[in-house]
Amino acid sequence: MPPRRREGHRKRSLAVFPGSFDPITNGHLDIIGRGLSVFDQVTIAILVNPEKHPLFTVEERVALIRESYRGNDRVKVDTFSGLLVDYAERVGASVIVRGLRAISDFEYEFQMALMNRRLNPRIETVFMMPAESYSYLSSRLVKEVFQLGGPVRDLVPPVVERRLREKYGAAPPSPPTRRRARARRT
Ligand code: PNS
Repeated sequence: MPPRRREGHRKRSLAVFPGSFDPITNGHLDIIGRGLSVFDQVTIAILVNPEKHPLFTVEERVALIRESYRGNDRVKVDTFSGLLVDYAERVGASVIVRGLRAISDFEYEFQMALMNRRLNPRIETVFMMPAESYSYLSSRLVKEVFQLGGPVRDLVPPVVERRLREKYGAAPPSPPTRRRARARRT
């Protein structure tokens, strides 16, 4: 019998990609793809935060991500509450992946990474830059554009666009009147 390759015994590297994912966008998918080029497995960890009022429930967000990665056993979806570093340690991940879109992300991400390091120095944060075409993309803008009747087709996975349509009816809601638009901004 040929000797077993050492590689076969290598521990699988696992990274956690945490976030709100309300909803997941193509920018997230881009970062996950980059994560998969470095780590064996990426677990997408959705924060359960009862204080936030998301558009999609946690269950809906899990389902949307599962659907987006159907058949890909290197991507897992999970939820967590409490400290992110505690979750990462619990699932055996030594790396947290975060996307950095622009300088404006940097300060918040830097604070979070350093706080997480202080909380648990065994967990490293790795930043990845998305394709430039996604550098302006966020879940918040996707929701706003869709709600105002704009196209989001190339910005989110097809299943997310379908669910947005289902949530708001067959077509995106028509843009609010000027008065309503002004009221919303306040
Ligand atoms: O997609 P988001 O909203 O930018 O993700 C933020 C998230 C979930 C990564 C962050 O809020 C988080 O890690 N929350 C868990 C609570 C925690 O660990 N706080 C201390 C870290 S500074």
